[in-house]
Amino acid sequence: MSANLTARVSAALQQITNPRTGEDLVSSEQATNIAVTLDGRVRLELRLASADDATLARTVRQAIEKVEGVTGVHVDVRDALQVTVTADAPAAKPPRSLPVMSQPGAPSTPKAPEPESYPNLGRIIAVSSGKGGVGKSTVTVNLAVALAMQGKRVGLLDADIYGPNLPLMLGVNEPPKVENEKIVPLEAHGVKVISLGFLIERDQPAIWRGPIVMKIITQFLRDVDWGQLDFLFVDMPPGTGDAQLSLVQAAKIEGAVIVTTPQEVSVGDALRGAKMFERVGVPVLGIVENMSWFESPETGKPMAIFGSGGGQRLATELGVPLLGQVPLYPPVGEGGDSGRPIVMADPACSAATKLVEIAGKLQQKP
Ligand SMILES: Nc1ncnc2c1ncn2[C@@H]1O[C@H](COP(=O)(O)OP(=O)(O)OP(=O)(O)O)[C@@H](O)[C@H]1O
Ligand SMILES: [Mg+2]
Repeated sequence: MSANLTARVSAALQQITNPRTGEDLVSSEQATNIAVTLDGRVRLELRLASADDATLARTVRQAIEKVEGVTGVHVDVRDALQVTVTADAPAAKPPRSLPVMSQPGAPSTPKAPEPESYPNLGRIIAVSSGKGGVGKSTVTVNLAVALAMQGKRVGLLDADIYGPNLPLMLGVNEPPKVENEKIVPLEAHGVKVISLGFLIERDQPAIWRGPIVMKIITQFLRDVDWGQLDFLFVDMPPGTGDAQLSLVQAAKIEGAVIVTTPQEVSVGDALRGAKMFERVGVPVLGIVENMSWFESPETGKPMAIFGSGGGQRLATELGVPLLGQVPLYPPVGEGGDSGRPIVMADPACSAATKLVEIAGKLQQKP
């Protein structure tokens, strides 16, 4: 969606020739760092030499305003000479302009915005972990589908913009439609879902940083046509980074569920992750220990795996409940790959039963 808009903006800029150079603004790199937001606002840098006609900036703005889908334009006019000089000096590179309208020029220290209430989103629950690959997305998807199967209205927001994978896990992958200026979430197994995975090209490097993360998360909360929900699960990227901070600054969330594996190293990271939420006043609702033991699909027998008891230790340390333990059961992973979460693909297996039990506990929360 935004990739197309960038292309259209770039094409419009190619139509503008600088009378001084006889070249178009894109080939001569006079117009550069084009950035667009999901809602159609465009920002770009225009490098003007002193001999250039200063009305070029206006021409550029007017041309972009006419591009279909553009809702706003901001042109940063820079001194071409200065840009060249600073760019040559390695210690003082010009700040990389980010596709965020509210952050002109060099990053300042933005005031933390007040978290907003979104009554239509129901109970917003962040699912987080300290370490990557512990099964956060798998757990989130299954909790969401389990609650939807019980008749709850559930939304799923994939905030893992560094490696979004909810589309694959839910078996949906198409660009969401925009209707009445709202993004229409996709629906899978009764769950409404929105993911950056729908909006970025699969092999596009996801170099999204602080302010843009905030921008996207706010947009996903505000500009998606969620309707009325009972639960909104937010699948976080691992760690305590921009997405976590952005979410708690953007919205009043009910709490966080922390996923960990039984091993000590994962627990240590999870503790740091949990403390971050507590520091910003977001309660930890409980711990889910994933891959607690191995369960063979052939024999159904549980087998202890290396390290144990981490989930309980973490829960004790934080004074929060251990919501449940989910076995490492290969069909859980296969369900993720095929877009059929285990709670619906094989509701009778013990992994599914455990996940449904955890979903039930979340439901009981006040
Ligand atoms: N209980 C389980 N049994 C079997 N496989 C599992 C289980 N939980 C997760 N997996 C598999 O482990 C891998 C990692 O899981 P997942 O992607 O959910 O983790 P994550 O914490 O979201 O990772 P990331 O940090 O990359 O976002 C996936 O291949 C998933 O299918
Ligand atoms: Mg994940």
